[in-house]
Amino acid sequence: MFSRIPRVFVSASIALLFLVFCTTLYLYDDVPAYHASGDAQVPTSKTEEHWDQPGQDGASQDAKGDVASVATDIDPAIPSTASASISLSTDGSNKPLATSQEYVEKPEQGVEPEKGLNHSPGQSTAPRPSGTDCPADVQFLRRAATEQELTDRVRYTRSCIEPVFSAEVDRDEVVNISEPIFKGATELDLLDCWDIQLPRCSPVKLTVPTPYPKEDYAHLIFGIATSYERLNDSMPAFAHWLSGTGSKLVASVTDIEEKTRTEMGSLQDEFQAAGIDAVMVKPLNPEFKTSENHFGVLKDMVEHSGPETQWFAFLDDDTFFPNLKPLSDALAKLDHTKDAYVGTLSEDFSAIRNWGYMAFGGAGAYLSAPLAVKLAEKVFECIKDSSLAEGDIIIRECVYTRSKAKLTIMPGLYQQDIQGDASGFFEAGLRPINLHHWKSWFEAPVIAMAKAADFCGDCFLQRWRFGSDTVLSNGYSIATYRDGLETVDLGTLEGTFDKFDGDFDFSIGPLRKPYSKKRKRSYKLLDAEITQRGDLRQLYVWKGNETLGELDEVVEMIWRK
Ligand SMILES: *[C@@H]1O[C@H](CO)[C@@H](O)[C@H](O)[C@H]1NC(C)=O
Ligand SMILES: *[C@@H]1O[C@H](CO)[C@@H](O)[C@H](O)[C@H]1NC(C)=O
Ligand SMILES: *[C@@H]1O[C@H](CO)[C@@H](O)[C@H](O)[C@H]1NC(C)=O
Repeated sequence: MFSRIPRVFVSASIALLFLVFCTTLYLYDDVPAYHASGDAQVPTSKTEEHWDQPGQDGASQDAKGDVASVATDIDPAIPSTASASISLSTDGSNKPLATSQEYVEKPEQGVEPEKGLNHSPGQSTAPRPSGTDCPADVQFLRRAATEQELTDRVRYTRSCIEPVFSAEVDRDEVVNISEPIFKGATELDLLDCWDIQLPRCSPVKLTVPTPYPKEDYAHLIFGIATSYERLNDSMPAFAHWLSGTGSKLVASVTDIEEKTRTEMGSLQDEFQAAGIDAVMVKPLNPEFKTSENHFGVLKDMVEHSGPETQWFAFLDDDTFFPNLKPLSDALAKLDHTKDAYVGTLSEDFSAIRNWGYMAFGGAGAYLSAPLAVKLAEKVFECIKDSSLAEGDIIIRECVYTRSKAKLTIMPGLYQQDIQGDASGFFEAGLRPINLHHWKSWFEAPVIAMAKAADFCGDCFLQRWRFGSDTVLSNGYSIATYRDGLETVDLGTLEGTFDKFDGDFDFSIGPLRKPYSKKRKRSYKLLDAEITQRGDLRQLYVWKGNETLGELDEVVEMIWRK
């Protein structure tokens, strides 16, 4: 018995030794492999140094300044299983994901970050769902990005607003908010967003006016003259301000003779489906020009009006109201039982020199009911007698020669005779009752812009200063000024548009000189929606220069109901 035990031990020891030998061999064999995988991060490290160089312009300077605040802005509950698209963490520490943008924001320096760079082989074998499986929270951004052609990767900032509704808001005041908007930016890959981790929002309180009450506007009737196609194209814009209001739209369709019953029927159906009470009529005379029908439609408007109708409004097909409430309120200050002719001049004095003193068509010309009824009987003779076949001129001459009404200028109406970059207008803290020329002389996504008016009424285009260099013009832009706000005179209008001379002083002046793109970086509203739970989501975008490989930058502003 005693002799047997050592023998067992000896064989066990031999076996053990053999095992150790083999294992050592195996391990040594594997060492290089371990090194290889252990060093997998090295290239990233190098690129980090590269990317981490100071930015060359004001905007990346801003980003730098925000690093400190990033950590507190991230939901600690978010698991740090870094996603392929946004984490390029290089030093192995649990750096918050959102800081990763710091290291990948300079693709022009020749180091385009590879997708999945930090996914070491075998780390994730789960099949990756396609881009359509993005979290619900980025669906709106993704949809908008696809429709509006943003870069696939965007630099993304999320900003949450907690509105405090108050009837006592001074709309001319630009309240200072100490918090910056640009903090906790991250980089998102919109084509690969199944595991995107969004930075958490810490809400900022902004005091805004109370939303417009839902009212009935049956006392207003609107008339336009336009082609079938333009009417069709204008439907979404009309729907924004007319849908469900009780107001009627009478449209003189100038090419109605060329359209079949089916075509007219389907257009009519479309308007009806959008909740617009629209009547489509034939021009009074097939020979009439569109501009003559512009006035001629009055006859049809009167026919389709009722005892409730107080005001008859002639509009251009691109006249847009963020909401009807301010128009209705402003008209309510006037006496609709007397002859009244209401509107506004062009902002451009040279246009007044050319066309004269009248209610310029794009801002609308508004006739009180008695005057409208009186002039409707004289439509043919007024068109025949007019000195110029321009709708607003025919209206003016008809009013002046057939009544004693004189033009009442209504503040808040705008012809918007500005071309090119209209941002100065939208960033001036104005409270426009209407907008115009937004799809011709300049481009502005008015329907998306006016979602702000749906959400908090008169807060549309209300302004706030954020931090030391940023101004939000709600529904239009977020502008950062390289040299801070000390020198920016927010009391004057920035002359961003093409024509910048004394002709605008009498209306929207004083003007100040426009900033260069270097000194002022504007994130313009791209899209907006009211969510099912009643939140307002706005996407403000700064377009990067593709030639330079710059990413588009997006600020998603979420106004919680
Ligand atoms: C807000 O900030 C601006 C400049 O950034 C300053 O001129 C102004 O006095 C501030 N307003 C208030 C109420 O602090
Ligand atoms: C009408 O507008 C819609 C888009 O709103 C478009 O799809 C359709 O082709 C247009 N129809 C005509 C006849 O222009
Ligand atoms: C983009 O950058 C290139 C090269 O600097 C420049 O030539 C071009 O004008 C820029 N494009 C825009 C839209 O700024």
